[in-house]
Amino acid sequence: MSRLSKHMDSVHEVSCDKASSEEQEQELQSKCETMKTSSCSPRVYVTRTTTFSAAHVLHSNKLTEKENKEIFGKCNNPNGHGHNYKVEVTVFDAVNPITGMVINLTDLKCYMDSAVMNVLDHKNISLDVPYFRDGVVSTVENIAVFIWHQMKAYVGDSLFEVKVYETDKNIATYRGE
Ligand code: NI
Repeated sequence: MSRLSKHMDSVHEVSCDKASSEEQEQELQSKCETMKTSSCSPRVYVTRTTTFSAAHVLHSNKLTEKENKEIFGKCNNPNGHGHNYKVEVTVFDAVNPITGMVINLTDLKCYMDSAVMNVLDHKNISLDVPYFRDGVVSTVENIAVFIWHQMKAYVGDSLFEVKVYETDKNIATYRGE
């Protein structure tokens, strides 16, 4: 049984006892105080999404021209092609007992604007973003990894997952593994 459910059970038991004595009331109060501390707070996943438009070319400088064409097909077109990407960033942490929030969503929006939109929106990912220009192939997998590292700088260990939709059908999920 988790620590939280133990707390829930014990609080439930005490409240069902209809505590009448002062001692019992004090005990209940102290259990409720314990519940308010963040270590006992429920941990919740919070997700915010954003969308950006960008161009890219799938090309590996570790492969020959022929291999690049074979593997990446029309996505290897040197003049590039575009996508409307959708990004979901999920954080996982305790609900702050005072604010009721895991993270202030206004802050998360601001972080995603800095870490994702300013860097990727209306860019040619393969040319404009140093991480990819320096040899990382701009597949949806690598874009998810890139966004993970970008977001990590803002939300730290609370970051749980980055999901990138290159199209409705092509989706990459990264959890820092
Ligand atoms: Ni593409």
